Amino acid sequence: MRVGILTVSDRASGQQYEDRSGPLIERLIEERLGWEVAETEIVPDETAQIEKILIGWVDARHLNLIITTGGTGFSPRDVTPEATRSVIEREAPGLAEAMRAASLRVTPHAMLSRAVCGIRAQTLIVNLPGSPKAAKENLETLYPVLPHALELLIDASGADTSHQFVQRV
Ligand code: MTE
Repeated sequence: MRVGILTVSDRASGQQYEDRSGPLIERLIEERLGWEVAETEIVPDETAQIEKILIGWVDARHLNLIITTGGTGFSPRDVTPEATRSVIEREAPGLAEAMRAASLRVTPHAMLSRAVCGIRAQTLIVNLPGSPKAAKENLETLYPVLPHALELLIDASGADTSHQFVQRV
């Protein structure tokens, strides 16, 4: 599986702040799932720039999974969910619901995440919050379902095998 990680942050893109979430997610994807991180990028909280990267990584690079980090909260500059919703063809609300439900056991601030998950072509796009701690906690919720989710997007005939894999885990 080939993965793209998009950090959305005015401060990280302006180099006033070191991006710690993008590299952390990259390490977790490689260590926990054994997948290749083929693309990484940092953009400011600008809808057009976020959309451009997402569309390019799907339509030209054909990545299996894109993870964004940051820009999902209530501040006026937080536009990642809107940019994601404008490029996906099908929403996958169960993933975002599961992340919020699990995160609520950690902090009531989980209610402030407006994260969106969805599908464009054969690519799954997942929004994570911006802080390294929150990104890691949210990603942990998805580990058990990500292999099966991505296999379903590639070829529905692989579904039976993947179900067995998920049950063994
Ligand atoms: N989820 C978990 N698991 N842990 C957290 O610390 N922080 C929340 C929330 N989700 C948090 C979390 C906070 S404080 C906010 S504002 C929202 O995610 C959105 O974060 P973002 O604006 O950095 O994307």
